[in-house]
Amino acid sequence: MDDLKAKYLAQIADATDENALEAVRLAAVGKKGEVALKMRELGKMTPEERQVAGPALNALKDEINAALAAKKSGLADAALDARLRTEWLDVTLPTRPRRTGTLHPISQVSEEITAIFAELGFSVAEGPRVDTDWYNFDALNIPGHHPARAEMDTFYMHRAEGDNRNPHVLRTHTSPVQIRSMEKMGAPLRIICPGGVYRADYDQTHTPMFHQVEGLALDKNISMANLKWVLEQFFAAFFEIDGIKTRFRASHFPFTEPSAEVDIQCSWVDGQLKIGEGDDWMEVLGSGMVHPKVIAAGGIDPDIYQGFAFGIGIDRLAMLKYGIPDLRAFFESDLRWLRHYGFSCLDVPTLHGGLSR
Ligand code: PHE
Repeated sequence: MDDLKAKYLAQIADATDENALEAVRLAAVGKKGEVALKMRELGKMTPEERQVAGPALNALKDEINAALAAKKSGLADAALDARLRTEWLDVTLPTRPRRTGTLHPISQVSEEITAIFAELGFSVAEGPRVDTDWYNFDALNIPGHHPARAEMDTFYMHRAEGDNRNPHVLRTHTSPVQIRSMEKMGAPLRIICPGGVYRADYDQTHTPMFHQVEGLALDKNISMANLKWVLEQFFAAFFEIDGIKTRFRASHFPFTEPSAEVDIQCSWVDGQLKIGEGDDWMEVLGSGMVHPKVIAAGGIDPDIYQGFAFGIGIDRLAMLKYGIPDLRAFFESDLRWLRHYGFSCLDVPTLHGGLSR
């Protein structure tokens, strides 16, 4: 038995791959292996002999099996080591230029806006693009008969025949997230919400899907002056141009009172859009003090809390900042356009590191 043991342990130690090891296993402890043959001989032994030989054979079998298992995992480790030595990758190498994708200007501008408002203490909130007409309209003080519903050229979701529930809509603005954030977080509150919105409209400065970033600040003593200061801070940081001219116009929204719209000075000459010169203005946002009914709809007491809200057109800002004259090009997926106007995905915009490079 000692000979058997010495022979097989040596063979196991010498096996150089899994196939060789399997051959040793079959020869030693397989069904027709040498240990099995020896076990069969137990029947011919006297009971006394068997009492000694039986346990000894079992122990031998266990020992060989243990050695096989240890060798097997050793071989696997060695195989992995060998593979790791050949299949290595230098992650510091530059990417292949042809495969470098770019960040869409809308994504870039959303990141820039988020970076600026984060610095001002606003966190990012989100809401669904398909929403109920309660969140999109009623809760924002736009009742069923209100002309603003028609003005917004809303896309309504299909309703099954006989379904009389209120229809869902593709949100026409990010303002429903004001209500959802108030419900979720209560007051005081400081959030922005960037995202896609939808209206049936199509020309050089309108597409049926576009992007807004909603802002909402609620506290006990927030005034219109805070709104104006925050927006001015924002424009100064965003456009990275000294003395950029903006125009605050008195306006009307059902969900703010008083309300103001903000335009940015620009010129359109020979199909070129330039910011900060000329006598054209491009409207980029709507804003105002949140209507008490809207604060109440969000579950917050308007006698205690007040605040401001704004909705910025992200695409409009991108057009102005990066001189892109036609909004429709944003969504045509023309690779040449994307390469020209795209941004490196590795340059994350921050206020201290630079918003755009
Ligand atoms: N929701 C308005 C729009 O889409 C913009 C807005 C937001 C105005 C918040 C005031 C306050 O035109």
